[in-house]
Amino acid sequence: MAWIGEIDLGTRPAPAAGPMVSLMIDDQPVQVPEGTSIMRAAALMGTSIPKLCATDTLESFGSCRLCLVEIDGRAGYPASCTTPVVPGMVVRTQSERLKELRKGVMELYISDHPLDCLTCSANGDCELQDMAGAVGLRDVRYGYEGENHLAAAKDESNPYFTFDSTKCIVCSRCVRACDEVQGTLALTVDGRGFGSQIAASQKQDFLSSECVSCGACVQACPTAALNEKSVIEIGTPDRAVVTTCAYCGVGCTFRAEMRGEELVRMVPWKDGKANRGHSCVKGRFAWGYAKHRERILKPMIRSSIDQPWREVEWDEAIAYTASEFRRIQAKYGVRSVGGITSSRCTNEETFLVQKLIRQGFGNNNVDTCARVCHSPTGYGLKTTFGTSAGTQDFDSVMHADVMMVIGANPTDGHPVFASRMKRRLRQGARLIVVDPRRIDLVRTPHVEADHHLPLKPGTNVAVLTAMAHVIVEEGLADEAFIRTRCDWDEYQDWAAFVSEPHRSPEATEPLTNVPAAELRAAARLYATGGNAAIYYGLGVTEHSQGSSTVMAIANLAMATGNIGREGTGVNPLRGQNNVQGACDMGSFPHEFSGYRHVSDSGTRALFEEAWGVTLDAEPGLRIPNMLDAATEGAFKGLFVQGEDILQSDPNTTHVAAGLAAMECVVVQDLFLNETANYAHIFLPGSTFLEKDGTFTNAERRIQRVRKVMAPSNGYGDWEVVQLVAQAMGLDWTYAHPSEIMDEIARLTPSFAGVSYAALDEHGSMQWPANDKAPAGTPMMHIDGFARGKGKFVVTDYVATDEKTGPRFPLLLTTGRILSHYNVGAQTRRTDNVAWHPEDLLEIHPADAENRGIKDGDWVSLRSRAGETTLRATVTERVAPGVVYTTFHHPVTQANVITTDFSDWATNCPEYKVTAVQVGLSNGPSDWQEHYAEQARRSRRIEPLEAAE
Ligand code: SF4
Ligand code: SF4
Ligand code: SF4
Ligand code: FES
Repeated sequence: MAWIGEIDLGTRPAPAAGPMVSLMIDDQPVQVPEGTSIMRAAALMGTSIPKLCATDTLESFGSCRLCLVEIDGRAGYPASCTTPVVPGMVVRTQSERLKELRKGVMELYISDHPLDCLTCSANGDCELQDMAGAVGLRDVRYGYEGENHLAAAKDESNPYFTFDSTKCIVCSRCVRACDEVQGTLALTVDGRGFGSQIAASQKQDFLSSECVSCGACVQACPTAALNEKSVIEIGTPDRAVVTTCAYCGVGCTFRAEMRGEELVRMVPWKDGKANRGHSCVKGRFAWGYAKHRERILKPMIRSSIDQPWREVEWDEAIAYTASEFRRIQAKYGVRSVGGITSSRCTNEETFLVQKLIRQGFGNNNVDTCARVCHSPTGYGLKTTFGTSAGTQDFDSVMHADVMMVIGANPTDGHPVFASRMKRRLRQGARLIVVDPRRIDLVRTPHVEADHHLPLKPGTNVAVLTAMAHVIVEEGLADEAFIRTRCDWDEYQDWAAFVSEPHRSPEATEPLTNVPAAELRAAARLYATGGNAAIYYGLGVTEHSQGSSTVMAIANLAMATGNIGREGTGVNPLRGQNNVQGACDMGSFPHEFSGYRHVSDSGTRALFEEAWGVTLDAEPGLRIPNMLDAATEGAFKGLFVQGEDILQSDPNTTHVAAGLAAMECVVVQDLFLNETANYAHIFLPGSTFLEKDGTFTNAERRIQRVRKVMAPSNGYGDWEVVQLVAQAMGLDWTYAHPSEIMDEIARLTPSFAGVSYAALDEHGSMQWPANDKAPAGTPMMHIDGFARGKGKFVVTDYVATDEKTGPRFPLLLTTGRILSHYNVGAQTRRTDNVAWHPEDLLEIHPADAENRGIKDGDWVSLRSRAGETTLRATVTERVAPGVVYTTFHHPVTQANVITTDFSDWATNCPEYKVTAVQVGLSNGPSDWQEHYAEQARRSRRIEPLEAAE
């Protein structure tokens, strides 16, 4: 795809669809919606009015006075960016007087600006330069003799961008971008008049300020004052390819801007429907891992895991893979092998891996990392609503009057969506946070939660049931909605259940730790505050009652009629970029693509006809069952694409034992991950920049991933899977991932209308996309639930078996931090380590004091499953009795601590509740020292710098 420049219409669109207004601009008739600025109206008809402080992603500000126009019947020269159109208005954008005025403005700017355009990193991509040309500036009457800012020092503290205040024209676009788009409010204009300058936080450098490095200010800056270091180093880009971020489930669209074959920068795309032109530090800047020296580019094999790796050619690696799986099946049976699909890979790749297992291996032993994150979402929402996915698009949040955030930390986990939430909250929406920690949303600039329910980890169901109790008992349920949309008998059973006195907020307060009055107030707000939307994350699903909690959430939404319209709904914030897609594509052992059970003979017949084999009607093994079967000697071979189960799955010791018991473990990945320690075959993976495909985000939005550069390892992941399939005797002949999508569409009713051509036409599509909804379905369950009547499910609170006691008196819960992604394989190989070089243990001051722990001390963290050591940070973000850590660094391996308890319905591990003890420590434990030594010897990163 050639260069895709983005047109800047100068100001935001009119706030709401109002009547059209007719006016004349430069003798041309033009019609625009009421509320449109003159600048935007002119831009829409193709006339660019010179501007500097205006841009169409921000509110108009009217400070630079470059965009002056003449309006018949009005005195003076109004700024076109701040003046709305009115019917019959006659506007002139060009005249001798306007030219003179604009030149005067530009002269003032240029007289305090270095004239080093030829060597400036923004040469050719600078609005100040463009405006000098546009107004015909030829000389500047004022020299540099007077006072100026040309000697100011550069701030190069941020790893990814510089702030050169000599080039700043104090247009405040950066300040407004940080306020309006990102919502961090890290920047201010400090001082007045000529002395005014941009300052981060309390006049700090960018790195030590509140800045979260989202890049919005850099994008908004019209000069080189804020500029990406990659542009300074490589030069301005000369082409762009639109693609999708490969980190989180928000699914931001970016222009990958290239210079020749080199990626210069990732710029969020204004037309991206998930991100609307915004980004976070990961997608925007943390892509350097793609060319990291530790990437493995050659296939490797070894006969046993105590042997060194041997680099081989692709042919040998593929043939060996195929022959090993066939050998094992011949010896141990058809069901002795299986595979794990990746939520990091494309839909097409995921579809192929499950097809390889079903068609090639002849069994259903396929699972995916959703097992350890959102499998309860699939189960819970399918049971209650009939579809295993969230109900809304992200835009819907702008219509919410009340948001309830449960077990999610959007500012860290889903930052671009969090910025949308914050914008809506600043507009006046109300907020309920249900979380053991004081997450940032509880109190952040200009946002304060109305209610924070700091529940004890593991008591989600009790809290949600107590809310339901208030809603039913106080007559706040939406009976009309329930009668028409839901099964009334089931509702009555549920209402009777939640009304029982021992489920009241007062009765449950001792076990949940949530003050009853606060809970009652939150329930009333959710039920009566207007459009109420629930957003939830892994703090809901990764529990022994994960599926029950999802259903309890669905019950609340149905009971209050908060489903089926804008601003409402039940919205899981999916973790990985394509975890929704991996589930959609048939990665679970009991389901084909589109969530159809393998025991359904009609569905099986469809696939059998397409694939020419008889398919197994028995559900296969889930990941934990595969590992159990391996330790029992019945499961011998595993194909793992793009997952590091040793690090990401619970009870590391058990995972290691399972892997060690297998005869052939194939790992396909970018780096030698922890699981590869137990692998016999390593197949190099490709990055999202190196292949075509699609990802499906948390809104069910299918978006194109476009190849930006050739794969460094020679193949896209889909090609490698095809080679393995061919070596196993399957007749796969896909020439391009679009053909895989065509097959998905033929075999999956909810994808029937999806093709690369349709995606290119619509930009993106939310499934279901079929004859009924050719452009996709932004919102689900509008007139009726996918399953017919909404189903209320009684969700009895059952305390987890993981109990605190004298030996392990604290509860550990885990989560992510903004700068890192999951096990950190990618982000640790970027400059994002500047923000979070190690995992830390958050502990409440009272618990710290009891143990003599001070901020920064080494502490041991012990559970009945294992022990690790990390540094403590003493903070009131966690409640007394609760400790918290992230799991981004393998040297910490938080999952050494977590147990193998799991969700009753889906086996999703109970990551969020582990009974632990914390004590002072001298430093890293033995296994951490051993790990660090191993890491030093192998080619992996993560030497134990943090521990030294
Ligand atoms: S840094 Fe850039 S955006 Fe910010 S005020 Fe200066 S010129 Fe404007
Ligand atoms: S990078 Fe983002 S958070 Fe940092 S100052 Fe700029 S807009 Fe604000
Ligand atoms: S919010 Fe998620 S999808 Fe968007 S840029 Fe950040 S990591 Fe990528
Ligand atoms: S662009 Fe209108 S005043 Fe700056």
